[in-house]
Amino acid sequence: MKKKVIVGISGASGASLAIHCLDILKQANVETHLIITKPAQMTIAYETDYKLDDVKAKADFVHNNTDVGALCASGTFKSDGMIIVPCSMKTLGEVSCGICGNLLTRSADVVLKERRKLVMVVRETPFNLSHIRNMETITLMGGVICPPVPAFYTNPKTIDELNYQISARSVESLDLGIDIPNIKRWKQDD
Ligand SMILES: Cc1cc2nc3c(=O)[nH]c(=O)nc-3n(C[C@H](O)[C@H](O)[C@H](O)COP(=O)(O)O)c2cc1C
Repeated sequence: MKKKVIVGISGASGASLAIHCLDILKQANVETHLIITKPAQMTIAYETDYKLDDVKAKADFVHNNTDVGALCASGTFKSDGMIIVPCSMKTLGEVSCGICGNLLTRSADVVLKERRKLVMVVRETPFNLSHIRNMETITLMGGVICPPVPAFYTNPKTIDELNYQISARSVESLDLGIDIPNIKRWKQDD
Protein backbone atom coordinates (compact mmCIF):
# COMPACT_ATOMS: atom_id res chain seq x y z
CA MET A 1 0.00 0.00 0.00
CA LYS A 2 1.26 3.48 -0.93
CA LYS A 3 2.32 5.68 2.00
CA LYS A 4 0.28 8.88 2.34
CA VAL A 5 1.69 12.13 3.67
CA ILE A 6 0.06 15.51 4.18
CA VAL A 7 2.36 18.37 3.18
CA GLY A 8 1.54 21.80 4.57
CA ILE A 9 3.31 24.87 3.26
CA SER A 10 2.90 27.89 5.52
CA GLY A 11 4.16 31.43 5.06
CA ALA A 12 7.57 31.26 6.71
CA SER A 13 10.71 31.85 4.70
CA GLY A 14 12.02 28.70 2.99
CA ALA A 15 9.48 27.87 0.30
CA SER A 16 12.14 26.05 -1.69
CA LEU A 17 12.43 23.50 1.14
CA ALA A 18 8.81 22.53 0.51
CA ILE A 19 9.55 22.03 -3.18
CA HIS A 20 12.47 19.71 -2.38
CA CYS A 21 10.28 17.77 0.09
CA LEU A 22 7.56 17.30 -2.53
CA ASP A 23 10.16 16.06 -5.03
CA ILE A 24 11.67 13.64 -2.51
CA LEU A 25 8.25 12.21 -1.60
CA LYS A 26 7.25 11.86 -5.25
CA GLN A 27 10.49 10.07 -6.07
CA ALA A 28 9.79 7.66 -3.19
CA ASN A 29 6.30 6.99 -4.58
CA VAL A 30 4.60 8.50 -1.52
CA GLU A 31 1.08 9.88 -2.09
CA THR A 32 1.05 13.56 -1.15
CA HIS A 33 -1.85 15.72 0.00
CA LEU A 34 -0.81 19.35 -0.30
CA ILE A 35 -2.19 22.38 1.57
CA ILE A 36 -0.77 25.85 0.86
CA THR A 37 -1.65 28.87 3.02
CA LYS A 38 -2.22 32.34 1.51
CA PRO A 39 1.04 33.77 2.97
CA ALA A 40 2.90 30.74 1.56
CA GLN A 41 1.73 31.79 -1.89
CA MET A 42 3.62 35.05 -1.27
CA THR A 43 6.83 33.33 -0.15
CA ILE A 44 6.71 30.97 -3.13
CA ALA A 45 6.50 34.04 -5.40
CA TYR A 46 9.21 36.02 -3.55
CA GLU A 47 11.69 33.23 -2.96
CA THR A 48 11.42 30.81 -5.87
CA ASP A 49 11.10 30.78 -9.62
CA TYR A 50 8.07 28.50 -9.37
CA LYS A 51 4.55 29.44 -10.33
CA LEU A 52 1.98 28.32 -7.77
CA ASP A 53 0.51 25.80 -10.22
CA ASP A 54 3.95 24.23 -10.77
CA VAL A 55 4.26 23.63 -7.02
CA LYS A 56 0.75 22.18 -6.90
CA ALA A 57 1.57 19.89 -9.83
CA LYS A 58 4.20 18.16 -7.69
CA ALA A 59 1.49 16.77 -5.35
CA ASP A 60 -1.00 13.98 -5.97
CA PHE A 61 -3.83 15.89 -4.33
CA VAL A 62 -4.19 19.60 -3.53
CA HIS A 63 -6.66 20.74 -0.89
CA ASN A 64 -7.91 24.26 -0.37
CA ASN A 65 -6.82 25.63 3.01
CA THR A 66 -10.32 26.94 3.67
CA ASP A 67 -11.88 23.51 3.05
CA VAL A 68 -12.05 22.19 6.60
CA GLY A 69 -14.23 19.36 5.28
CA ALA A 70 -11.45 17.89 3.11
CA LEU A 71 -10.31 14.28 3.65
CA CYS A 72 -7.34 15.14 5.83
CA ALA A 73 -9.55 17.07 8.27
CA SER A 74 -10.76 13.72 9.62
CA GLY A 75 -8.96 11.13 11.73
CA THR A 76 -10.56 8.45 9.55
CA PHE A 77 -8.19 9.54 6.76
CA LYS A 78 -5.29 7.20 7.49
CA SER A 79 -2.20 9.20 6.68
CA ASP A 80 1.32 8.14 7.53
CA GLY A 81 2.02 11.60 8.90
CA MET A 82 2.30 15.26 8.07
CA ILE A 83 5.16 17.64 7.41
CA ILE A 84 4.73 21.42 7.67
CA VAL A 85 7.53 22.91 5.66
CA PRO A 86 8.35 25.68 6.26
CA CYS A 87 6.34 26.23 9.42
CA SER A 88 5.60 29.80 10.49
CA MET A 89 5.39 30.90 14.11
CA LYS A 90 1.69 31.59 13.55
CA THR A 91 1.01 28.03 12.43
CA LEU A 92 3.25 26.65 15.20
CA GLY A 93 1.33 28.73 17.76
CA GLU A 94 -2.07 27.65 16.47
CA VAL A 95 -1.20 23.95 16.37
CA SER A 96 0.37 24.08 19.83
CA CYS A 97 -2.88 25.55 21.27
CA GLY A 98 -5.21 23.27 19.30
CA ILE A 99 -6.63 26.09 17.18
CA CYS A 100 -7.93 24.55 13.95
CA GLY A 101 -9.02 27.60 11.97
CA ASN A 102 -7.95 26.27 8.58
CA LEU A 103 -7.34 22.90 6.90
CA LEU A 104 -3.59 22.98 7.51
CA THR A 105 -3.87 23.49 11.28
CA ARG A 106 -6.87 21.13 11.52
CA SER A 107 -4.89 18.40 9.71
CA ALA A 108 -1.95 18.86 12.07
CA ASP A 109 -4.30 18.69 15.05
CA VAL A 110 -5.79 15.46 13.69
CA VAL A 111 -2.35 13.92 13.10
CA LEU A 112 -1.45 14.67 16.73
CA LYS A 113 -4.73 13.40 18.18
CA GLU A 114 -4.37 10.15 16.20
CA ARG A 115 -0.78 9.85 17.52
CA ARG A 116 0.68 9.97 14.01
CA LYS A 117 3.93 11.65 13.06
CA LEU A 118 3.98 15.46 12.74
CA VAL A 119 7.18 17.14 11.56
CA MET A 120 7.34 20.94 11.79
CA VAL A 121 10.15 22.67 9.93
CA VAL A 122 9.88 25.81 12.05
CA ARG A 123 11.62 28.88 10.61
CA GLU A 124 12.30 31.95 12.67
CA THR A 125 15.34 33.53 14.25
CA PRO A 126 15.89 34.48 16.98
CA PHE A 127 13.08 32.83 18.94
CA ASN A 128 11.01 34.57 21.59
CA LEU A 129 9.76 32.75 24.66
CA SER A 130 6.35 32.00 23.17
CA HIS A 131 7.99 30.30 20.15
CA ILE A 132 10.11 28.20 22.49
CA ARG A 133 7.15 27.29 24.68
CA ASN A 134 5.07 26.37 21.64
CA MET A 135 7.86 24.12 20.36
CA GLU A 136 8.04 22.48 23.78
CA THR A 137 4.28 21.84 23.71
CA ILE A 138 4.47 20.24 20.26
CA THR A 139 7.37 18.06 21.42
CA LEU A 140 5.41 16.96 24.51
CA MET A 141 2.53 15.99 22.21
CA GLY A 142 4.86 13.77 20.18
CA GLY A 143 5.55 16.15 17.27
CA VAL A 144 9.04 16.63 15.86
CA ILE A 145 10.45 20.16 15.77
CA CYS A 146 12.89 20.11 12.89
CA PRO A 147 14.21 23.63 12.17
CA PRO A 148 16.01 24.12 8.85
CA VAL A 149 19.48 24.13 10.36
CA PRO A 150 22.24 23.14 7.93
CA ALA A 151 24.69 20.34 8.64
CA PHE A 152 27.73 22.41 7.71
CA TYR A 153 30.01 19.35 7.82
CA THR A 154 28.48 18.22 4.52
CA ASN A 155 30.32 21.15 2.90
CA PRO A 156 27.47 22.21 0.61
CA LYS A 157 28.70 23.99 -2.50
CA THR A 158 25.39 25.60 -3.48
CA ILE A 159 22.32 26.87 -1.67
CA ASP A 160 20.28 24.32 -3.57
CA GLU A 161 22.48 21.50 -2.26
CA LEU A 162 22.17 22.88 1.28
CA ASN A 163 18.38 23.13 0.92
CA TYR A 164 18.19 19.58 -0.41
CA GLN A 165 20.10 18.20 2.58
CA ILE A 166 17.86 20.09 5.03
CA SER A 167 14.72 18.89 3.23
CA ALA A 168 15.95 15.30 3.02
CA ARG A 169 16.64 15.19 6.78
CA SER A 170 13.20 16.70 7.46
CA VAL A 171 11.46 14.05 5.34
CA GLU A 172 13.58 11.41 7.06
CA SER A 173 12.12 12.61 10.39
CA LEU A 174 8.72 11.35 9.19
CA ASP A 175 10.13 7.84 9.63
CA LEU A 176 8.42 6.46 6.53
CA GLY A 177 11.08 3.84 5.89
CA ILE A 178 11.65 5.18 2.38
CA ASP A 179 14.92 5.52 0.51
CA ILE A 180 16.00 9.15 0.19
CA PRO A 181 18.81 9.53 -2.34
CA ASN A 182 22.01 11.48 -1.75
CA ILE A 183 21.66 12.19 1.96
CA LYS A 184 25.15 13.08 3.11
CA ARG A 185 25.74 11.30 6.41
CA TRP A 186 28.49 11.95 8.89
CA LYS A 187 31.46 9.69 8.31
CA GLN A 188 34.47 9.68 10.55
CA ASP A 189 37.82 9.61 8.75
CA ASP A 190 39.70 6.29 9.16
C1 LIG B 1 8.62 37.02 2.61
C2 LIG B 1 8.06 36.64 3.94
C3 LIG B 1 8.83 35.89 4.81
C4 LIG B 1 8.34 35.51 6.06
N1 LIG B 1 9.13 34.75 6.87
C5 LIG B 1 8.64 34.29 8.04
C6 LIG B 1 9.42 33.39 8.82
O1 LIG B 1 10.53 33.01 8.47
N2 LIG B 1 8.87 32.90 9.95
C7 LIG B 1 7.60 33.25 10.36
O2 LIG B 1 7.17 32.76 11.39
N3 LIG B 1 6.85 34.12 9.63
C8 LIG B 1 7.33 34.64 8.48
N4 LIG B 1 6.56 35.48 7.71
C9 LIG B 1 5.27 35.95 8.25
C10 LIG B 1 4.14 34.94 8.00
O3 LIG B 1 3.92 34.78 6.62
C11 LIG B 1 2.86 35.46 8.69
O4 LIG B 1 3.00 35.40 10.10
C12 LIG B 1 1.63 34.71 8.26
O5 LIG B 1 0.52 35.22 8.97
C13 LIG B 1 1.75 33.21 8.50
O6 LIG B 1 0.52 32.61 8.17
P1 LIG B 1 0.42 31.04 7.85
O7 LIG B 1 1.11 30.33 8.97
O8 LIG B 1 -1.05 30.79 7.87
O9 LIG B 1 1.02 30.80 6.53
C14 LIG B 1 7.04 35.91 6.45
C15 LIG B 1 6.25 36.65 5.57
C16 LIG B 1 6.75 37.00 4.33
C17 LIG B 1 5.89 37.80 3.40
